[in-house]
Amino acid sequence: MRSIDELIADHRPGYSLAQRFYTDDALYERELERVINRNWIMAGHVSELAQEGDFKLFEVGRESAIIVRGKDGAIGAFANVCRHRGSVVCLEARGNTQQFTCPYHGWKYGLDGRLLAARAMPDGFDAESHGLKPVALELVHGLILLSFSATPPSLANCRKDLAEPMALFDIEGLKVAAQKDYLIPANWKLCVENYQECYHCATAHPEYARLHTLMLHPEQRRRVQQAMLDKMEPCGLKHFDIDFLDSNARAGEIGYGYSRTALFDGYVSGSEDGQAVAPLLGNLSDYDGGASDFSFGGFSFLLAYSDHVVAYVFTPVDKNNSKCQIYWLVRGDAQESKDYDVDRLTWLWDVTTQADKTIITNNAKGIHSKYYRPGPFSKMERAESNYVEWLLQELARPLATD
Ligand code: FES
Ligand SMILES: [Fe+2]
Repeated sequence: MRSIDELIADHRPGYSLAQRFYTDDALYERELERVINRNWIMAGHVSELAQEGDFKLFEVGRESAIIVRGKDGAIGAFANVCRHRGSVVCLEARGNTQQFTCPYHGWKYGLDGRLLAARAMPDGFDAESHGLKPVALELVHGLILLSFSATPPSLANCRKDLAEPMALFDIEGLKVAAQKDYLIPANWKLCVENYQECYHCATAHPEYARLHTLMLHPEQRRRVQQAMLDKMEPCGLKHFDIDFLDSNARAGEIGYGYSRTALFDGYVSGSEDGQAVAPLLGNLSDYDGGASDFSFGGFSFLLAYSDHVVAYVFTPVDKNNSKCQIYWLVRGDAQESKDYDVDRLTWLWDVTTQADKTIITNNAKGIHSKYYRPGPFSKMERAESNYVEWLLQELARPLATD
């Protein structure tokens, strides 16, 4: 059998991945080490943890982290693994607390991860050195990013280059108006690959395809794209274009990207009727009829309409199961019922994600067949092709020692 390195070298550019990328246990282990645990993944937004003691869990593959706002007001993250005999400490997905008590033998940890109490330990037991293990956490313009590595990639350029585009929508000042998790019985890459291309939109997403011009060939999109670019400045927007693969080419960096794409004429937001569903974001003064795509590493994506932002996070549960977490964000001062309605806000991407779940499940079924062979990408799957290249680069990267 070919080794993993040979499998990577065998990959034919412009084609989908070989079966073993989705089915091989050793390859999944390598992904965990070099791609999944190493990359920064969006674990939420600061607005979710507004008060001291607010916490949420974030789980990826075999890892679980407790993210908590501490007494000093800072947000920190800790491995959700007891320092006594390794039980998971926190079982609630979110809440507010002053301490975390392990359900097994009752060790208690503070909001700063320190061990506060452990019964009947021998003389000389050093509580100080038995705090919860810290997990790397960075806030990037209000997004909580986590990495399960002691040597995560740098976020310096991502933070700098995305500062202006993110300020347009005041990403930091938003609040989470709704959040849903979708469990998908497929390898995580099939979920991200699906999100990278809109070749399937015309066939799988009639609701989305009414509004979004991404389903068009770039040449067909030109006129409507130009109309949006002309409108941008009077609406308070600016044009930026950051290529995901270019940014990732810098060694030791997280890949990131930004672009804005026009919606069809007459539509201003991602909703059932294409009309606004919440107040304009940031300092925007009007609708330019566009939607922006942000990407952070290989797992986290934002879609910024002028009045709300939809964040997508795709993570493995295990080799054959994935989670798609979606956050719907609106202005921090927007009020539910008065300024937005959660059902209207979430409609489009709930319907679209349910449909994606079905097509990804079908894709996973076929990929496990002995008849599956890598197939050629269309011209409308350039981003997916780039994504596959990115993944192969990450898999081939030497392992940083944790
Ligand atoms: S494993 Fe947590 S207290 Fe024993
Ligand atoms: Fe889709």
